[in-house]
Amino acid sequence: MEYVIQKDAKIAVLCGGMSSEREVSLRSGKNVHAALQRLGYKNARIVDVSPNIMEDLKGFEYAYNTLHGKYGEDGCIQGILEILKIPYTGCGVMASAICMNKEYTKRILSTVKEIPLIKSVFVKKGEDVKKAVEDLNYPLITKPVSEGSSFGMTKVNKPEELEDAYKEAVKFNDDVLIEEFIDGFFVTVGVLEKEGKAFATEILEIRTKTEWYDFDAKYTKGLSEFIVPATGLSARATEEVKKIAVLAHETAGCSGVSRIDFMIKDDKPYFLEINTNPGMTDTSDLPAQSKVMGIDYDHLVLMILNSAGLNK
Ligand SMILES: Nc1ncnc2c1ncn2[C@@H]1O[C@H](COP(=O)(O)OP(=O)(O)O)[C@@H](O)[C@H]1O
Ligand SMILES: [Mg+2]
Repeated sequence: MEYVIQKDAKIAVLCGGMSSEREVSLRSGKNVHAALQRLGYKNARIVDVSPNIMEDLKGFEYAYNTLHGKYGEDGCIQGILEILKIPYTGCGVMASAICMNKEYTKRILSTVKEIPLIKSVFVKKGEDVKKAVEDLNYPLITKPVSEGSSFGMTKVNKPEELEDAYKEAVKFNDDVLIEEFIDGFFVTVGVLEKEGKAFATEILEIRTKTEWYDFDAKYTKGLSEFIVPATGLSARATEEVKKIAVLAHETAGCSGVSRIDFMIKDDKPYFLEINTNPGMTDTSDLPAQSKVMGIDYDHLVLMILNSAGLNK
């Protein structure tokens, strides 16, 4: 393992925060802090992010970002760290802001023809939703443009269900992304960097007892099964997913770490979204994906720590 940052560095492990994913982030932060201690970073401290963050960061030399969602994964905290000149892990302001919004992510990635995007429309507040989906084929899926954990998402089987599904999404966001529903299975793949070069982790496949990987499936024990490395794809599709993941990471301007979600149908991948600050709890996807390729939890934390200050 390679240590880039000196062992006596004062590191703030940013977690908690003010998003709906606060509890998960606190768990991520606690685990990362324990790993940093084991790695010899004795001056690493947990910092629960509140509106006092400018004060609370005084004296710290580095920030390890384990925040998820609003303010922590969307460029806001990154902007504060830029102003304070504190090098931080993971993606910078621009990539964080873009990837927080599923529509803008797709617009950027649509410039690269190798990245397969699902046919979709973007419905802004006040627009006629029925008219907007005229060119899409049912079933559809409605999603708030910037919310995680499958909040506000609905599968729409027929036109009569559209209005209610749209209303559900609008509760979270004025703007709604409506995609064609891919009747396949879900996979996710991590992207890490070593000496500035991005590479993909093993692929994790999730099989659910529900129709899709919805909120219940995500948080109810026994409703979903994790398979890592994934077995549902051919060797060719496995390589393709990894290649596209790295391409998406680079195209969106990500740095240090990300985790890219896909649907797979007929052995073909379809891009869903980029998570710029993936969970780091002991049951999270990224640690499991890394572990099967020989990168244990502490090594993963060190690799991400080494990305501090390298973001664009
Ligand atoms: N177009 C789609 N077709 C089929 N399933 C989808 C589609 N979009 C999302 N899903 C399902 O919903 C889950 C969450 O979607 P995602 O876009 O990754 O949002 P988030 O993880 O931010 O809630 C996915 O894991 C997948 O199971
Ligand atoms: Mg997702």
